[in-house]
Amino acid sequence: MKGVVLAGGLGKRLYPLTKITNKHLLPVYNLPMIYYPIMTLCEAGINDILIVTGGNSAGEFLRLMGDGRELGLKGLGYTYQKNEGGIADAIYLAKDFVDDDSFCVILGDNILEGSIKEGVSRFKEGAMIFLKEVENPQEYGVAILESDKLIGIVEKPRVPPTNFAVIGVYIYSSDVFQIIGNLTPSERGELEITDVNNEYLRQERLTYKIFDGFWGDAGESVDALLRVNNYVAKRKKEDSNLWRIHPL
Ligand code: G1P
Repeated sequence: MKGVVLAGGLGKRLYPLTKITNKHLLPVYNLPMIYYPIMTLCEAGINDILIVTGGNSAGEFLRLMGDGRELGLKGLGYTYQKNEGGIADAIYLAKDFVDDDSFCVILGDNILEGSIKEGVSRFKEGAMIFLKEVENPQEYGVAILESDKLIGIVEKPRVPPTNFAVIGVYIYSSDVFQIIGNLTPSERGELEITDVNNEYLRQERLTYKIFDGFWGDAGESVDALLRVNNYVAKRKKEDSNLWRIHPL
């Protein structure tokens, strides 16, 4: 399985921290934010990765990570998203890299403590998403559940149907590119990942797993960035084995 890390966007919610740099280069305790999703993929055995970046400072990723060997990667590639087309549009840029493999996408500002290995090894085909119970579901894609059957996903609803957020980790078969190709932009002018996942659900090819560990969307707000920083700092001091890099 291949890996794709999305690290584009203008990071407007973190302005002016992101005025001259890319959000995913900001620190999360002692490492640049983007290291964390890469470590999550690596830990799950995925070490051939494409970074989709965009906006300002795109070249800094190459300066920071080079060919990825210092991060334990066998292959690290980069591509550039020209406009603010949304998550699904960014994923589409990975089409040639993925070819007919399956792949795991992780949003570059999503910090996870815990493993996605089991989901990765269980994945067969279609799509897999991960859910996490949160206190502020209206900030995210939210699962509609009937007991434990997933029947829909709504993007940032004013009145959330459940407290289960769809975290920014998705596994897809290569036919996702066909699905993205058929999407129409949402009201905010973006190709929405939630529309992709709902299409897989309609085709009865969407599975989900509850993510057990800590999950933080560090790019959601300045407060979220601070919260995630404080959490990671505390946990690393308690357990120095957490979020360890294993260079090749
Ligand atoms: C995106 C997705 C949303 C998901 C969230 C996870 O939102 O659209 O469905 O729950 O990532 O971080 P964004 O943070 O881009 O607003």
